[in-house]
Amino acid sequence: MIDSIEERIALPVGEVALTRPRDAEALLSEEGFENEEFLPYWAELWTSAVALAHDVARRSLRGAGVLELGCGLGLPSIAAALAGGRVLATDWSADAVRAVAANAALNEVAVETARVSWREPDAILERAPWRYVIASDVLYEPRNAEQLLELLPRLVDRKGRVLIADPGRRPAEEFLARACAGRWHVRSTTSSRSPRVQVHRLRLR
Ligand SMILES: C[S@@+](CC[C@H](N)C(=O)[O-])C[C@H]1O[C@@H](n2cnc3c(N)ncnc32)[C@H](O)[C@@H]1O
Repeated sequence: MIDSIEERIALPVGEVALTRPRDAEALLSEEGFENEEFLPYWAELWTSAVALAHDVARRSLRGAGVLELGCGLGLPSIAAALAGGRVLATDWSADAVRAVAANAALNEVAVETARVSWREPDAILERAPWRYVIASDVLYEPRNAEQLLELLPRLVDRKGRVLIADPGRRPAEEFLARACAGRWHVRSTTSSRSPRVQVHRLRLR
């Protein structure tokens, strides 16, 4: 049983209640680390998630298909559902998937959930193209950047948009340089919520 706390986050679509583990570090396990360096990053609410949730909440999504990658606690997914999107929240951590389902229920919004790793993405490719693919603070390891550069162009078509919020991590810089040099048009803005976080909007050329 995970000892949890609840907090409330004000968004343009209203206040969202979010439950998360009181102490993310207490979830570290040697077994988990040996298995793909599986760290409990899902258990924290990162600043980028709040920034992305604000961005998404200002959009009129009205039935648009929205996929969140590496959702953690799922605040941007809940914001997207409150803005009218049909949302699938995914993460490779089963605990994260359980947490986002519980948080969606707490806020009485419909958010579908699935355990999906970027290395085995069949379940989300089957449902492509997505209108929006969203993710916050997922570019913290070079291998993540590598996997997402390969995966993202298969998830959207030219009408689709990818929104990535990031606090300026080094692998994100490398990801953006390669995305711009490759298949993507990228527009980046500083989040009104946090001067450290940028929201990158990507569309296929
Ligand atoms: C730094 S946390 C950010 C969580 C959440 N998006 C936020 O901003 O609060 C990174 C998230 O990406 C997930 N993740 C990392 N590598 C992944 C992979 N290969 N496939 C799917 N999810 C992954 C982690 O489990 C974690 O939930």
